[in-house]
Amino acid sequence: MSVGRIPEEIIEAVLQQHDIVDTVGKHVHLTKQGKYMKGLCPFHSEKTPSFTVTPERQMFHCYGCGKGGNAIRFRMEIEGLSFPEAVRAMAEEAHIPFEDRAFRPGGSPVSREMEQLLQAHEWSSKLYHFLLKNTEHGKPAMDYLKSRGVSDKAIDTFQIGYAPARWDTLVQFLDKRSFDLSAMEKGGLLSSKQDGTGFVDRFRDRIIFPLHNRSGKVIAFAGRILGEGHPKYLNSPESRLFTKSRTLYNLHQAKTEIRKSRQIVLFEGYGDVISAWEAGVHNGVATMGTALTEGHASMMRTLADEIIVCYDGDNAGQAAALKSIPILEAAGFQIKISLISEGLDPDEFIQKYGAERFRIQVLDGAVSAVKFKLIYLKKNHILLEEDGKVAYIKDALEVIAPLPSPTEREIYLKELSAELQVSFDSLKQECNQFRQAMQKRSSYGDNNAKRWNNVRHKKGKASMPTLLPAYHVAERRLLSFMLQDSEVARYVGDRLGDSFNINDHAAVAAYLYAYYAGGKEPDVSRFISSLQDDRLEQVVTSIAMMDTPEEWTTQELDDCIREIKRVPLQAQIQRKKEEMVSAERAGDFLRAAQIASEIIALERQ
Ligand code: UTP
Ligand code: MN
Repeated sequence: MSVGRIPEEIIEAVLQQHDIVDTVGKHVHLTKQGKYMKGLCPFHSEKTPSFTVTPERQMFHCYGCGKGGNAIRFRMEIEGLSFPEAVRAMAEEAHIPFEDRAFRPGGSPVSREMEQLLQAHEWSSKLYHFLLKNTEHGKPAMDYLKSRGVSDKAIDTFQIGYAPARWDTLVQFLDKRSFDLSAMEKGGLLSSKQDGTGFVDRFRDRIIFPLHNRSGKVIAFAGRILGEGHPKYLNSPESRLFTKSRTLYNLHQAKTEIRKSRQIVLFEGYGDVISAWEAGVHNGVATMGTALTEGHASMMRTLADEIIVCYDGDNAGQAAALKSIPILEAAGFQIKISLISEGLDPDEFIQKYGAERFRIQVLDGAVSAVKFKLIYLKKNHILLEEDGKVAYIKDALEVIAPLPSPTEREIYLKELSAELQVSFDSLKQECNQFRQAMQKRSSYGDNNAKRWNNVRHKKGKASMPTLLPAYHVAERRLLSFMLQDSEVARYVGDRLGDSFNINDHAAVAAYLYAYYAGGKEPDVSRFISSLQDDRLEQVVTSIAMMDTPEEWTTQELDDCIREIKRVPLQAQIQRKKEEMVSAERAGDFLRAAQIASEIIALERQ
């Protein structure tokens, strides 16, 4: 592009402020359909909706006319704007400084503010940690931690700290280092004074747990009161750096072990993660005291296949575990759920019964989601009474009947039969009736197999040819994984580089390597904006809209890579064969024989 490129920070800020659903929603009536929203495409005329929006990826795509992209692209298309025009309009609407200052060398205000905030978090975290370990102020906090069995090693590993009972420890510290205090307030480190005349520390007389992002940068704090009191934990507010629904405590340290074992343990509390770590469980993470979200689940799913939900043993914990099941199922996890006796939380269990019993009884003893549901349901019924039994059987069958595997159904039915002393045959019969009723219900309802695309308009440019060569499919599949996970990009980068057979794919890969090399997180919508190339943008959009699972295995990546590498080999073999024929024609049999052995060697590869 001839005009100066718009700084990435501006584009990122614009995308952050303009949600795709809101942006599109102003022009298209959208209805929710699972992970997607659908509506009638505003870019071509249609009667059946083939226009989809994926909030999770912040993208739109029309399966009818093939248009797609992020929020900026939507504005360009719908309002007929150029890229800079659309960005400018959207920046103005969101009060993002766009002109002059934004283009000055040395970065935009947006990125400088982020950097300052990260720096301030990093230093504050070091300060709190120092105060806990080395000062008189920190003594009571240290004693408290010790009384709860937290070791020195854990204090270092988790960079635990202490914020003194003063109003200006951090204010002074940050001010001396010339941080802009109002920016620090916005970023959640300080609070404004009531009368608006200045700032005070947000965290006072609290044990500090730094919260890190996936790459290990401190982005927020949780402060626990010493002993009893309210609120027990004070967390940083959400900020440019910190989104609760996308942050998991300890993920930065646990990810190595998680990736190795393909298993993750999900806790409710910071203390649980820390105690478990000390008990040798290094694949544990926790949410920030908020409910588990789809975002959490898909983040975890990129690293692990199996999850053990290890929530508190009390009613609230068990109810939360139950709620987590559909979210984790939708992400494609194999789910296990821990049962902790006496209403203890994992931390308390470890303190009371020790590490070994925790690992064996609580983690290894975790039960399947179905089993957990059955146990959970049972608590609502009095099984000594016939009515209670009957009601429990009904609830239980509702869980068992939908299971697709007959063997699995049989196992649970047998258990149920033994437990309640009712005949297996009658349970089985009732289960079958349940299934028949279910099938009837589903055939009257929406036809899920067809979703939104019952009638696809095939005229004009076809959205995707149905039969692509295998290597083409492999390239798209690989890129789709790479878009979702920087690990995959690194893996593919090492093995394949940009040797994709299709030029556009090679270009996308090259851009993607550069994007991740800049330390950015996977984000299709942002990546697209960094391209500033219409054709590649469409290529990426159509790849991003593929229904590739979030999971991947190295086996699968290797298969794709092999498929892709085969093409140049096959082309080479073809050329050699032609050479051989012409050598034979020319009567040069020695040369022909030599080429033949080269072909054999290539074919072996
Ligand atoms: P718990 O009340 O179970 O706390 O809340 P805990 O982790 O066991 O803490 P200890 O062992 O008493 O020190 C579980 C999680 O919910 C969030 C925190 O993330 C906590 O770890 N929480 C709880 C808050 O954010 N604020 C609160 O006031 C309480
Ligand atoms: Mn707890």
